[in-house]
Amino acid sequence: MKALVIYDSGFGNTKSIAEAIATGLSSLNAKVLPVGQLRPEDISSGDLLVVGSPINGWRPTQKTLEALSRLGSRGLAGVVAAGFDTRVKLFIHGDAARKITKTLKDAGASIVAKPMAFYVKGTEGPLLDGETSRAAAWGEELSANARAYGTQRSA
Ligand SMILES: Cc1cc2nc3c(=O)[nH]c(=O)nc-3n(C[C@H](O)[C@H](O)[C@H](O)COP(=O)(O)O)c2cc1C
Repeated sequence: MKALVIYDSGFGNTKSIAEAIATGLSSLNAKVLPVGQLRPEDISSGDLLVVGSPINGWRPTQKTLEALSRLGSRGLAGVVAAGFDTRVKLFIHGDAARKITKTLKDAGASIVAKPMAFYVKGTEGPLLDGETSRAAAWGEELSANARAYGTQRSA
């Protein structure tokens, strides 16, 4: 199983979270890539794919939506996946993580974690205290869930 964390980022906060998640996924030797550099053929059945985007106007960024659409047209059967976003802590903030997760699921991926949100203080950041540690812990959880899923499938 290999792991890929792909992200879009305007000001670097989502990139920092993607890198922290990859640290937590260290046992899977995760690769971190900007969403535009993802080639759908880089992903095979059995891999773990994590996709993250800032919320921009209540949804994932355009680049993220385009990458998801490319992935979706190829199909993600057998791929294990999860989605996250970064957002400002507001009463009404919209959502990107749920939309990413739903699109991954609709493309055939097996979802191994609930959509996850990480918080920035303002549009350009910085991240709230503790968010990179929380991202690393989430990465560890993903890695355990993905392994358990793989074991279950081959049993
Ligand atoms: C054009 C634009 C629209 C945004 N819309 C939202 C929004 O609807 N809800 C929200 O919580 N944050 C919103 N934000 C704040 C972003 O989520 C925040 O800038 C992002 O998490 C920072 O991550 P980045 O450094 O990776 O770009 C918006 C930011 C921009 C630039």
